[in-house]
This record gives sequence, C-alpha cells and structure tokens, in this order.
Amino acid sequence: MQLVSGFFSLVCLCGLGLAATDNSTNSTASAPSMVQLSTDPDFHFELLRQLSVASYGGADIGEVLTAAAKIVPGDFESFYCEFDILANRVLQQGQAIDAGEFPVSVRDTMFRAASYFQSADFYLHGNQSDPRIISLWETMQGIFNISLSLLPVPGRRVNVQADGFYVPCIFYKASPDDKPRPTLIIGGGYDKGQEELYHFMVKATLQRGWNAITYEGPGQASPRRYQNLTFIPQWEKVVTPVVDYLETLPEVDKSALALVGISFGGLLAPRAAAFEHRLVATVCLDGIYDFFTAFMAAYPAGLTSLFKSGNATAFDAAINAARNAPGASTAFRWVIDQGLWAWKTTSPFYLISQFQAYTLVDVIDQIPGPVFVGDAQDDIFLKGAGAVLASHLGDRAHYYLFKTAYGDGEHSGIGSFVFQNQVVLDWLKPILEKSGR
Ligand SMILES: *[C@@H]1O[C@H](CO)[C@@H](O)[C@H](O)[C@H]1NC(C)=O
Ligand SMILES: *[C@@H]1O[C@H](CO)[C@@H](O)[C@H](O)[C@H]1NC(C)=O
Ligand SMILES: *[C@@H]1O[C@H](CO)[C@@H](O)[C@H](O)[C@H]1NC(C)=O
Ligand SMILES: *[C@@H]1O[C@H](CO)[C@@H](O)[C@H](O)[C@H]1NC(C)=O
Ligand SMILES: *[C@@H]1O[C@H](CO)[C@@H](O)[C@H](O)[C@H]1NC(C)=O
Ligand SMILES: *[C@@H]1O[C@H](CO)[C@@H](O)[C@H](O)[C@H]1NC(C)=O
Repeated sequence: MQLVSGFFSLVCLCGLGLAATDNSTNSTASAPSMVQLSTDPDFHFELLRQLSVASYGGADIGEVLTAAAKIVPGDFESFYCEFDILANRVLQQGQAIDAGEFPVSVRDTMFRAASYFQSADFYLHGNQSDPRIISLWETMQGIFNISLSLLPVPGRRVNVQADGFYVPCIFYKASPDDKPRPTLIIGGGYDKGQEELYHFMVKATLQRGWNAITYEGPGQASPRRYQNLTFIPQWEKVVTPVVDYLETLPEVDKSALALVGISFGGLLAPRAAAFEHRLVATVCLDGIYDFFTAFMAAYPAGLTSLFKSGNATAFDAAINAARNAPGASTAFRWVIDQGLWAWKTTSPFYLISQFQAYTLVDVIDQIPGPVFVGDAQDDIFLKGAGAVLASHLGDRAHYYLFKTAYGDGEHSGIGSFVFQNQVVLDWLKPILEKSGR
C-alpha cells in the first residue's frame, strides 16, 4: 500500500514538483530575470547556451533567434528539426566558399554549422538506437575538423591512450613557436562534446597566450558513441594520461598546468585532482561535492525516499510515469534520457544508483588547493552545490558566486562566457605565470 501511494504521490508531484525543477523558473511567482527564448525553461536554457557561444564564434545571434522562434516548447523533435535545418543551411554556405581564397570565412562558417549540429543532437538521446545520434556527430566532427585546420595555429585531434581505452583530445597551441606556455586542460560534463568547449573557454585561453587541451572521458560524447564507454567515477584514469601526453610536448610548461571541469565536470575535475598532483590549480564551473545529493535536491523528497526503499521496479515505474505525464518538465525528461544513454541502461533506478559513486566525500582531503569553485545563483539543475563544495574545501577554495541580477547566474556560466572567462582566467593568471618560473 505504501509503495502504491508513494508511486501515486510521485505521479501527482510530477504535475507540480517535478514539472518545475526549481522555483526560480516559476514565472507566476516572480518575473524571469532575463528575456526568455522559449516558454519552456529548459529550452530557454539550451537556446541561451547556443546563443552564448556567439561571443566566441560558435553562433550568430540572429540565426539562433530565428530557429528559437520556430521551436515548439517541450517538443524534442521540433528542437532537432529547426537546428538540423539551420546547421545544414550554414554548412551549405560554408561549402560554397572557396577555402583557398577565403579561409577565415570557411573557418567561421563551419564553426557555426558544427555548433548547430550539436544542438540538433541534444534532445535525441531518449531513443538510444536513434541513428541520428551517430550521424549528426560524424557530420559535426568532420565540419569542426575543417575549422580546426583553418585556425592561425591549427588545432589537432589526438587520441591519448589510457588503461584499456583512449581519450579523444584536441590540442590548441597558443603560438606557432615552441616556447613552453601555461596550458589548461578543459573537460565538459554530462552532455555535448569537447567541440563546444572551444567556444566556451579555449578561444579565451588562447587570447591570453596560453595553450589548451580539451578531452572527453567515458560516458561523454565520443567515448560513449565510438567506444561504448559509460561514465566512470575514477576520473584520474582519464586526466592522468592527458597530463602524461602534455608532458611530452615542448610547447607545454609542465609546471603550469590547470584542470577545468564544466557542469558535471565540476565533480569530475576535483576527483581527478585528488590523485593527479601535477596540476597547479583546479577550476570547477560549477562546484559539486556529492552528485547524488545535489541532483536529488532539485526534486521532491518523495523521490529520494522511493529510491532509498530499494524497489527498482517501483522506482522505474514511477520515473517513467512522471517522464511521460502531461506537463512533465523538459529538464527532467532530458536529464533522465541523457543519463540513461550515457550509462547505457534503460533503468532510472540503475542510473540514480550509479550517481552515488560520484562523490568527493572520501577524497576531499586529498584535493590540493587552490580550487576555483564557481556557484550559479540561478542554477536550474544543481542550485547551491558550489557552496557545499567550497565549505568542504575550506581555505583551499576560492569561492565565486555568479549572480542572477548581473545576468551571470545560470548553470556553468551559460549566457555569460566573456565575463566568466574574465573572472576565471584572471584568477588563474598569477598562479600559472608564477609557477612556471
Ligand atoms: C520550492 O518552493 C516550495 C514552496 O515554496 C518549497 O516547499 C520547496 O522547498 C522549494 N523547492 C526548492 C528546490 O527550493
Ligand atoms: C509558483 O508560484 C505560485 C505563486 O507564488 C505558487 O502558488 C506555486 O505553488 C508555485 N509553484 C511551484 C511549483 O513552486
Ligand atoms: C528508435 O529508433 C529506431 C531507429 O530509428 C526505430 O526503429 C525505433 O522504432 C525507435 N524506437 C522508439 C521507441 O521510438
Ligand atoms: C577529424 O580529424 C581527425 C584527425 O585529425 C580524424 O581522425 C577524424 O576521422 C576526423 N573526423 C571526421 C568525422 O572526419
Ligand atoms: C557498441 O555496442 C553495441 C551494442 O550495444 C554494438 O552493436 C556495437 O558494435 C558496439 N560498438 C563498439 C565500438 O564496440
Ligand atoms: C516492488 O514494487 C512493485 C510495484 O511497483 C511490487 O509489485 C513489488 O512487490 C515490490 N517488490 C518488493 C520486493 O517490495
């Protein structure tokens, strides 16, 4: 009886609690803090993310806003469709340009097309056998390759060998010469690919005269697609081979390496830093101490108690009913779809069980400082998580709260990359440029 009522209360909650994953998106309670790109709060967030990369060449604003106007709130196929049309149109524009004559134009056009193909893919992971998950990515990577080859110093893809798998990376050299320079190791989180990170932070890093390398580990875009690998908690198994690789490069100052983790990477990066001690700083955008706790905090307490009851059948039935219920929030549907895909399962219970392994509880004392711990005041997924990590790190943490009223309060700095890069890279400068001497 209890389970049955637990089940029904969760279904009921999905119309209320789960539908609004956090209260800041409750527009009846207060006006939204910025102009909304969709009446669907999660579509707004993803559109803002796509718009954000415009600051560093990953979009044109009018193109994104035109697609946004046609996207039907909550309709995942519509999101795919509008971005697929846009991506293909921009790709065709790029293909019509003579790269010999106009290399910069081809590079900039292909960067935008690649970025739009990533958005086309974004909401498709609910059907794990959807062939578009692979085909869009292959197209995207091929186009991105063209842009990489047309950078002032071409970016180069390298597969770094790890223990039993490889880590796809892209190395970006700040200057054609081989002078050793500080180097940022930048990794993403739960979704999208390392190609987005060029626009997120790599370009800003190169502008400051430092190298950057981006990478993807198991569970992330390419390792999941091409090596069938699901996330692993031991993230040092991903980062350490990348550091080993950097140590072979003359243009890398080995004593000035910093690790940046974005979104879910805000847990993965400090986890790796607990074991990989060749880094002079770690940056969490934003910080996460215990993923299970931070994730579940956004949902009604009934969800946690149903999970803790340990009945996988009942839990899966409840989650699936909540996802399929009319009015279920896009953020909730997507976060489950994406997680099931990344962990290669169909069971939400299994997924949430896996989340419990992503924690810094046992390694927090091993994480050397300094750690930049970002926190997003208006985070739609993990509100308050950065403050928790900072409190556990104590004086090893440099805590920074990005603020809603200033337009930089969104998860991972979405909407404010120029400002976020200013804050983070200026914080890193004395650390990186001193350690190399
Ligand atoms: C949202 O607001 C409701 C009602 O004020 C409150 O009970 C709940 O704890 C809030 N949830 C979050 C995640 O802040
Ligand atoms: C949204 O705000 C309204 C008005 O304050 C409130 O009645 C409602 O419970 C809120 N909804 C949620 C999901 O917090
Ligand atoms: C998933 O995609 C495959 C391939 O397009 C298709 O055959 C299958 O019917 C889809 N499954 C669902 C549940 O939509
Ligand atoms: C992109 O370039 C790399 C080599 O730099 C190559 O191995 C890979 O196959 C290319 N990807 C596509 C989709 O063309
Ligand atoms: C990945 O697993 C699927 C089945 O789950 C299989 O069809 C495919 O060949 C595998 N791919 C690789 C690269 O191992
Ligand atoms: C788990 O929940 C289902 C209802 O969803 C119920 O039929 C089953 O008996 C429960 N199993 C246990 C071990 O309680």
